[in-house]
Amino acid sequence: MSFFRLLRAVLKNIRHMRLLLAVSRSLDALAVLKLIICFDRLGVLELMNEPRSVDDVSEFLGGVKRRDLLMEMLLTLKEAGVLVEEDSGLRVDWRRVEKVRAMREKQISMRVFEVLLRGVENVIYSTVLNVLRGVDVDFVSPEVATVLYFQRQHPFFDVARRFALELGGGRSLEGKVILDVGCGFGAGTVTILNYLNFNCHLICADFYPNVLDECACTLVKPPGSPVKQLRELDNVEFTLLDPSMKSKWPIPDESVDVVFSFDQFQWSHKPQEMMNEFSRVLKKNGILLLTTSIRRKRKRSSIDVTTRLFGANKAYSKKEILTLLKNAGFKQGRIYLSSFVVAKK
Ligand SMILES: C[S@@+](CC[C@H](N)C(=O)[O-])C[C@H]1O[C@@H](n2cnc3c(N)ncnc32)[C@H](O)[C@@H]1O
Repeated sequence: MSFFRLLRAVLKNIRHMRLLLAVSRSLDALAVLKLIICFDRLGVLELMNEPRSVDDVSEFLGGVKRRDLLMEMLLTLKEAGVLVEEDSGLRVDWRRVEKVRAMREKQISMRVFEVLLRGVENVIYSTVLNVLRGVDVDFVSPEVATVLYFQRQHPFFDVARRFALELGGGRSLEGKVILDVGCGFGAGTVTILNYLNFNCHLICADFYPNVLDECACTLVKPPGSPVKQLRELDNVEFTLLDPSMKSKWPIPDESVDVVFSFDQFQWSHKPQEMMNEFSRVLKKNGILLLTTSIRRKRKRSSIDVTTRLFGANKAYSKKEILTLLKNAGFKQGRIYLSSFVVAKK
């Protein structure tokens, strides 16, 4: 069943498969590039022209409270060959830095993320310093959210969301009740509506009232009708969720056919509670379509380090995701291309 589902999704997206695969394979390298950019902007690469210890770097940055995370950054860059051991310290290897930087222009999978990389260069490196200094980031910071908003306009994300929908049953999802958790400003919401010819009941849910307001004002063009705001559509409703997960979401038990959550799960600091809510609101045999970057097997993962440095909770391993699913009562769970989780209640 899972094989045929994957086969159908691949065939339907055959034009985009090369890009989807290339992006999935380049996520680790992308994360290394983000770390290089941050260290460059913070002056750490220049400092590391000479061999330096973690304490040297920590002192240089000043006020570092997350020494563990700084250590992870350094070790990740060491594993990527960007830093090399010398005289019991770490020194930068500029040739390797240039190699990774060159990928930014050469590889189409990297070019997809140009907006994000510019964001890291211009503002996000300061968020990273804040995180290292121990500033509590309960929610995505405004600068990260803004960069992500513009990044998410890239057509690749429309392709990725459609791939997720395809894995979840494709056009058979027409007429279903779909909950879009972490709808953000509505980019995914628009994809779902267009993909299903506006034939579904869509619940847009987010954790901030202002984000939900923005989403409600997003423009769409239903077939045979003029351009409308999402809030004008009869088949779309909006729900504010409690990010602390202390209270149940205002959605009845077993009332939803599909829970769709794209690039949101890693932000939550209450992953099991959130998974339990996905399960509670889903009808029996309902489907969860969760898209989030899954860390590879290795102990240290560049994807996880950058996820945390950007203020999110963490990037999960395959095993962690499968355990969360099992604990929440999902029957089957599959992960495709290290990002697309499909599970049945
Ligand atoms: C990059 S946006 C994803 C938007 C949208 N799903 C899309 O496809 O573009 C990240 C989402 O994570 C949510 N988020 C941020 N911090 C959170 C937290 N602490 N708990 C739960 N969700 C959070 C945001 O509200 C936002 O909807």
